Amino acid sequence: MKNNTLLLWSFSLCAVAFFVSGAEENTVFKDEEFKVPHGENETVHDRITYNMRKSLDLDVDGCILVPGEKRSLLDCGFNVTAKTIFIIHGWTMSGMFESWMRKLVAAMMQREPEANVVIVEWLPMAHQLYPDAVNHTHQVGLSVATTINWLQEEQQMPLQNVHLIGYSLGAHVAGYAGTFVRGSVGRITGLDPAGPMFEGVGDEKRLSSDDADFVDVLHTYTREALGVSIGIQQPIGDIDIYPNGGDVQPGCDLTSVLTSAAGGNFMDVMKCEHERAVHLFVDSLISKEHTSFAYQCTDSERFKKGICLSCRKNRCNQMGYNAKKTRKRRNSKMYLKTRADTPFGGIHYQMKMHVFNRKQADNADPTFYVKLYGAHNDSQDLHVDIPNKVGLNLTNTFLVFTEDDIGDLLKIRLSWEGASESFGSFWKNIKKNFWDWKSSSKPTNQMLEVRRIRVKCGETQKKFTFCAQDPSLTEITPGQGITYVKCRDGWEVKPSKKRLHI
Ligand SMILES: *[C@@H]1O[C@H](CO)[C@@H](O)[C@H](O)[C@H]1NC(C)=O
Ligand SMILES: *[C@@H]1O[C@H](CO)[C@@H](O)[C@H](O)[C@H]1NC(C)=O
Ligand SMILES: *[C@@H]1O[C@H](CO)[C@@H](O)[C@H](O)[C@H]1NC(C)=O
Ligand SMILES: *[C@@H]1O[C@H](CO)[C@@H](O)[C@H](O)[C@H]1NC(C)=O
Ligand SMILES: *[C@@H]1O[C@H](CO)[C@@H](O)[C@H](O)[C@H]1NC(C)=O
Repeated sequence: MKNNTLLLWSFSLCAVAFFVSGAEENTVFKDEEFKVPHGENETVHDRITYNMRKSLDLDVDGCILVPGEKRSLLDCGFNVTAKTIFIIHGWTMSGMFESWMRKLVAAMMQREPEANVVIVEWLPMAHQLYPDAVNHTHQVGLSVATTINWLQEEQQMPLQNVHLIGYSLGAHVAGYAGTFVRGSVGRITGLDPAGPMFEGVGDEKRLSSDDADFVDVLHTYTREALGVSIGIQQPIGDIDIYPNGGDVQPGCDLTSVLTSAAGGNFMDVMKCEHERAVHLFVDSLISKEHTSFAYQCTDSERFKKGICLSCRKNRCNQMGYNAKKTRKRRNSKMYLKTRADTPFGGIHYQMKMHVFNRKQADNADPTFYVKLYGAHNDSQDLHVDIPNKVGLNLTNTFLVFTEDDIGDLLKIRLSWEGASESFGSFWKNIKKNFWDWKSSSKPTNQMLEVRRIRVKCGETQKKFTFCAQDPSLTEITPGQGITYVKCRDGWEVKPSKKRLHI
């Protein structure tokens, strides 16, 4: 696992270098073929196509909208009162659509059967050295804005019905389109907007929250190498969602990708995290009832501690297409955990427990597991991820994520895997395998006490308190477990405190 992480990291380093420097001559790039000579009659429109989709199958030609030609609207059956969704691709190495395009278009057409779904095709301008493709985003954005202006001014298409969805560089194309359009389009969704040459630049040179009435952004590949990351790290929209912290996407580690059914290669490893933004968005289109919530938090570390599962004052929102438009507020970072595959959503629980040190546990760094028993199903044993050490004689807060909705929580089993007091973190990594040997060779008398566990579910916002099933058994030693049952709705430990004082 550690080895893979290292490999993956060095690989992203190469990938970033590749992005930034452009490609060497011996790669897939053949610029000459694609650079249209700057002839006198040539316009940008010759290199950008508005491909209105009529069929779910991308191999079936779409209908080409020609800005300024009303006839093409009639021919394509453009409905000016329906929603209009422009899908904008990013930088391309193959000069062709990547497979996500088909999925996104199909999901969009199924979700919004009446909408005009239009692919903004700028492949010849995107199939260039990366810095050149970046340079074209301005021009392509201007073309999209001109097209929208024509639709609203001559065809009375309402601007608030317009939704631009851009992936990677396409997100910044959408930003320029939003800047240049007369008025303000309804929504822009940025799917892992490109980072190199955009991170840290002014609002007007990248997608920003000023570019539409509502700008929502998913960040999935913000891991940094050589000072840049492929997806932009900084928050740039009205809401910025960082699934899994925005850096490590489950199912995208080297082993998973290389052993996938399709048989991946190194490029796929990199694409997996960048493209995850598109797949999360597609997921939100097709599974309407299976929604994923993201929660506002100052940073990923705090989120991992389970501190931020509040929905008060718009602090949570749905991820993807179903996101609720909120009042403009900049730099609102939101987080959630996801599964490795569709449906990506799971359930988040915040758990709080006071851990009393009862015997010889001053140096204990216990590894806890919880197993949740729900009305529909039970979870696996889930490792309790406490970023630092478990705080003794303190209340510890942690985040538990279940991949399945197990229904109303009925029971929790907390177990202490073992102790690792004098062996340091090295031992902690391998102790799992040696636990049996260790427990027999070096018995320990350590003892902790946990009387109750307070739980809040992010998705339902319900709070419960769980008490030890047997009130006399609240002490725990390495290798043991305690079962807690629901004893109270809410968290108040002493609901009748006031009365006690009378
Ligand atoms: C440019 O347009 C003019 C008239 O529209 C035409 O005669 C000429 O051949 C065109 N030139 C090129 C390079 O296409
Ligand atoms: C155009 O879209 C509107 C709104 O979605 C819908 O009510 C209407 O039936 C559509 N018209 C046609 C001809 O499809
Ligand atoms: C971008 O293109 C313009 C002309 O279209 C050119 O003057 C400028 O140097 C280009 N910038 C980069 C970074 O290539
Ligand atoms: C926790 O409290 C117990 C007594 O209740 C005390 O013996 C122990 O030293 C304390 N441990 C820490 C780490 O504060
Ligand atoms: C219950 O959860 C297990 C994994 O913990 C899973 O394999 C199983 O399919 C689930 N059963 C149902 C009915 O959801």
